[in-house]
Amino acid sequence: MSKEVVLSENAGFCFGANRGYNAVKDAISEGIPIYTYGPILNNSFIVKGFEERGVRVINDLSELDSLPKGKIIIRSHGVSKAEYERLTDSGFEIFDATCPFVKRIHRIVEKESMGGREIIVVGNPRHPEVMGIVGWSVKGATVIENSEEADRFSFDPDKSYCVVSQTTFNRNKFQELVELFEKRSYNILVMNTICDATGVRQTEAEELSKRAEVMIVIGDRQSSNSKKLYEICKSNCEQTYFIQELSDIVGRLPKVSGLVGITAGASTPKYIIEEVQSYVRNDV
Ligand code: F3S
Repeated sequence: MSKEVVLSENAGFCFGANRGYNAVKDAISEGIPIYTYGPILNNSFIVKGFEERGVRVINDLSELDSLPKGKIIIRSHGVSKAEYERLTDSGFEIFDATCPFVKRIHRIVEKESMGGREIIVVGNPRHPEVMGIVGWSVKGATVIENSEEADRFSFDPDKSYCVVSQTTFNRNKFQELVELFEKRSYNILVMNTICDATGVRQTEAEELSKRAEVMIVIGDRQSSNSKKLYEICKSNCEQTYFIQELSDIVGRLPKVSGLVGITAGASTPKYIIEEVQSYVRNDV
């Protein structure tokens, strides 16, 4: 049997990440100060690379008063309505790279909360996307991440509810939580706002890692979707490596005679995937 290298079809940037990345890349040539509100992607290589080319990360809106005017790029995670308004009133040029799938959630939350529904966001309360979503409700929102929290939540029979999800939430877990909600409330509007990019990548990782002798997952340690891919692959393939860049794996791979599968998280740039792929094909 000879070695075979298979790159997962949807490895790397999702649609929204690509859009944010290109917005910054294109803006650099404009010759004005370029900022991103928060790190553009969950990938330290990209953020560092952009920093070296003069792009600055704004971490707090109070910084706006002391910075030279230029262009601010809002990342794909999106921002709350208050942040959005503060940014657009700041005198800076704004490029809104909020992923359209996240924007759709903002619109649902704003409309349904204005119409009187209580908002429940299924997701991680510490994730910037979720914090942004909560900030589009006109009267706050409850974030629920697991079944214990769902059990603890007390539904008011006189109120109506709208449930949305963080785009990267696990589809099955969302379904379980929705069933718990539906048992306890009659007036509940469920909007499944999970993005397929994550599910597709996970299904491919599952299938590939079942056949692989060695699996390589490329992603930043901070990226939750990359970590999830690693867990899936590791459960099917003992020899799974979680790496951030090529140098993490050079000289570490065993001699392989079967299939080497490669996948990458949604914020992993193409050039790193290509470097790893070429090394595994030619040098292992
Ligand atoms: Fe958008 Fe889905 Fe990526 S919501 S940012 S395309 S994971």
